[in-house]
Amino acid sequence: MRATMRGMTNAIRTRGLTKRYGGRAVVDGLDLDVPAGVVAGLIGPNGAGKTTTLRMLLGLVRPDAGDGSVNGAPLGRPAAYLPWVGAMIEGPAFYPGLSGARNLAVQAALGGLDPAGIPALLARVGLTGDKPFQRYSLGMKQRLGIAAALLGDPALVILDEPANGLDPAGIRDMRGIVRSINDDGRTVLVSSHLLSEVQQVCDWLIVIGDGRRLFQGPTSELLAGGGDLEEHYLSMFTATFTATEGRSS
Ligand SMILES: Nc1ncnc2c1ncn2[C@@H]1O[C@H](COP(=O)(O)OP(=O)(O)O)[C@@H](O)[C@H]1O
Ligand SMILES: [Mg+2]
Repeated sequence: MRATMRGMTNAIRTRGLTKRYGGRAVVDGLDLDVPAGVVAGLIGPNGAGKTTTLRMLLGLVRPDAGDGSVNGAPLGRPAAYLPWVGAMIEGPAFYPGLSGARNLAVQAALGGLDPAGIPALLARVGLTGDKPFQRYSLGMKQRLGIAAALLGDPALVILDEPANGLDPAGIRDMRGIVRSINDDGRTVLVSSHLLSEVQQVCDWLIVIGDGRRLFQGPTSELLAGGGDLEEHYLSMFTATFTATEGRSS
């Protein structure tokens, strides 16, 4: 984690960020602050609105209300900040017949990016890059997706559920990769539906349920209430669930 957790700068800031589908707010007035230099975890059960939130930050989904900034540039002008953002969202697309290395070369060419760093990027994520993508395991696909997200030497890296579906060893490797990306001085925002997958690597946590923010702050603050983190996490959803039941009856 970098010194910037003092609160001088935010890599991501949103106020009242909202997205509705079919009249339902799936992201509901989110106020997010991700300090520059941290590994931040966006945590919530399936359907909580994590991917929709990340898509809005990346200019892929247009918010229905609210505003914000990424790397200091307004959310409404993604072209102003996207050159410094790398992302992997929901199963990145690669050419099945091309090797990992060739796929990265294609993406670099399409993005006008320097391909010189590709061998080092592959080594960084633990791939040799010579097998065709169609023969990659899920973990290898996730690793290649992360390498692709790093191609443009981004200041902010957004990874949507990079540990999803991996075995314990794969999850451990993923945490190591996330940590090494942060050691380079990059801010990382990583989502997960399981707190336990990412809590060890996160300096900063945002917990959401039903599109609403349930907690935001340093991981240590969530821990400070006593008990373990997972217990706190679960109790937040129990509270939400009870409140929701109360409303609908
Ligand atoms: N394009 C869409 N059209 C309609 N509903 C959507 C769309 N995208 C997401 N949703 C709904 O929004 C909710 C939040 O989805 P999502 O952001 O993918 O959650 P998460 O990533 O936390 O699992 C879910 O109920 C999902 O079905
Ligand atoms: Mg999702």
